[in-house]
Amino acid sequence: MERHQSWSGFPHVLSASQFSADEITRIFERADSYRLDHHVGRHLDTLRGRIVGCAFFENSTRTFTSFDAAALRLGAQVVELPGMVQYSSVAKGETLEDTVRTLECYMDAIVMRHPETGAAKRAAAVMHKPLINAGDGTGEHPTQALLDLYTIRHRFPNEKAIKIVMLGDMKNGRTIHSLSRLLCTSMPGSEVHFVSPASLGIPSKLFLKLSENGLRCTDHPNEDFVPLLRDAHVLYVTRVQAERMKSEKEIRAARAMYCVTPKSLKKASPHLAVMHPFPRVTELSPDVDRDPRAAYFEQIQNGLYVRMALLSLALSR
Ligand code: CP
Repeated sequence: MERHQSWSGFPHVLSASQFSADEITRIFERADSYRLDHHVGRHLDTLRGRIVGCAFFENSTRTFTSFDAAALRLGAQVVELPGMVQYSSVAKGETLEDTVRTLECYMDAIVMRHPETGAAKRAAAVMHKPLINAGDGTGEHPTQALLDLYTIRHRFPNEKAIKIVMLGDMKNGRTIHSLSRLLCTSMPGSEVHFVSPASLGIPSKLFLKLSENGLRCTDHPNEDFVPLLRDAHVLYVTRVQAERMKSEKEIRAARAMYCVTPKSLKKASPHLAVMHPFPRVTELSPDVDRDPRAAYFEQIQNGLYVRMALLSLALSR
């Protein structure tokens, strides 16, 4: 398993594959404690005097605001940089390396989202302070994977392995890539079904790697997801990543191929957890929100606790 050690001692968070089972447990125990603090309204100042930078080169609602809120709830201050492409010197041609080396002169940790796959690794290679990958292109979204797994563990506390149906854009969906990688470590033996439009299938290299690393993977191009839900623990839905596709026609065709509605869930397991990293577009009907099996707002809430845990581990040295 590849390790990503920063020069200051704490590992950068770059890939879901970097975490050992013990590290995942440590992060989740800390997240549980922050969850409790949040419920009782306890004020924390674990990170008082520390400054976190949120540098986003791509749009975000949840990841940006939850990292921002997580830092504030731990008593840190935040430098918010949501429009790096338009408003920073990136617009004048500054390199990613020069940008992050500049930002770390002023801050204690950087949370970065970038449209280029591999950008987090590139940035971390020149940094002295912790870098947290908040999503890089079609590559990875490791903190989303952690909050997804945290939600799965809360829904299924006694399961060592699960049956999960991944539905949507398997090719470009970085949350799918990261969650699958995390399942290799945390729930080996899990059954993972990738259901997608044929043009948006799971990359074969990743499929092979996941299969070699303990998951029982099956690919279902252009297949109906409904029959798979009868005995599934999780349905993990993702949108078509339109911003990574060139043709409007292809986007429309892919979107038309799947949509989760109350009817799709009629014969599904009563214990199913319907998950989605959000934003949702056309692939998941808001009519499902009233179903107790909908777990996506739980995911959003859990993102706060998991990101508090990650920031505190990165910075409370
Ligand atoms: N899940 C997720 O990454 O959402 P945002 O793009 O809104 O951050």
